[in-house]
Amino acid sequence: MTFPSIRPRRLRLNPVLRKMVRENALSTNDLVYPMFISEGKNKKDGIPSMPGIYRQTIDHALNEIEEVIKLGIPAICLFGIPDGKDPEASSAFDQDGVIQVALTEIKKNFSEILVITDTCLCEYMNHGHCGIVMKNQVINDPSVELLAKVALSQARAGADIVAPSDMLDGRVEAIRWVLDNEGFEHIPIMSYAVKYASAFYGPFREAAQSAPAFGDRNSYQMDSANSREAIKEISLDVAEGADILMIKPALAYLDIVSKAKELTDIPVAAYNVSGEYAMIKAASDKGWIDERKIVTETLISIKRAGADIIFTYFAKEAARWIKEENGTL
Ligand code: PBG
Repeated sequence: MTFPSIRPRRLRLNPVLRKMVRENALSTNDLVYPMFISEGKNKKDGIPSMPGIYRQTIDHALNEIEEVIKLGIPAICLFGIPDGKDPEASSAFDQDGVIQVALTEIKKNFSEILVITDTCLCEYMNHGHCGIVMKNQVINDPSVELLAKVALSQARAGADIVAPSDMLDGRVEAIRWVLDNEGFEHIPIMSYAVKYASAFYGPFREAAQSAPAFGDRNSYQMDSANSREAIKEISLDVAEGADILMIKPALAYLDIVSKAKELTDIPVAAYNVSGEYAMIKAASDKGWIDERKIVTETLISIKRAGADIIFTYFAKEAARWIKEENGTL
């Protein structure tokens, strides 16, 4: 017998065979492109820490959505940047609010794109927290009632999926109950079941002007040191009726994506967040890394961990590369 008898490299020598034994592949069907919609008309502002991503009014956004559809990306996720913010987040559930108007316009112009709405309050609150604040605390149950109202107004305006991202207790159940009672029992809830209190959201908060005016989000978002608690959050959201689970951020939490996939039988999404985008953009801008290779490796690692759906600001680039590679990366 020669040494060694088992040679894993046999399967790596031929590029055709390498393709045949690949365990995971990324297709455009996996991608969701997040977009920031600001109120009004004819405004399009770049976000310095997120090159290529804009805060834009719906007239401009419609052009980009056309591009997204042409690239074969099936879904977008909308974040609203209202003109007015107040302590009740009243523009979040206003039928004439920025997201509700955007939904109407998108549905009027396109039938093929799936629209997911971020169901949260922080972008609409003058203090930037994800719930109603009393005595410097985010109070749970009245905030959840408000979130259900926001979800309902988004469903009424044409949202295909609502995605609560607040991390308050009981919101999936409350949203499900209100949607069902108002004739929207067919609208799925994609819950950010496990959202960590993360510094990787920095650029997003700059984009959405939603950094908390005081304190932090540690009383509702999860501690990054915890994974057993993630299981508790996942189980709760499944029990409350979540149709799809989201883990966020993605890269520093791939172990949690993997656990969510093993523990449940519903689809798992992962959010490749703004800080993850900014770091790759900054380093590739300096010529320190190869952007295409790094993004491809990053997205496939999220897939390999178990994500069925990936939210990423790189969706358009990835879709172009997928096309060039004949369908999958
Ligand atoms: C707000 C929300 C945040 C993100 C998505 N929804 C920010 C936060 O919780 O502070 C972050 C997304 C990103 O960083 O790309 N509910």
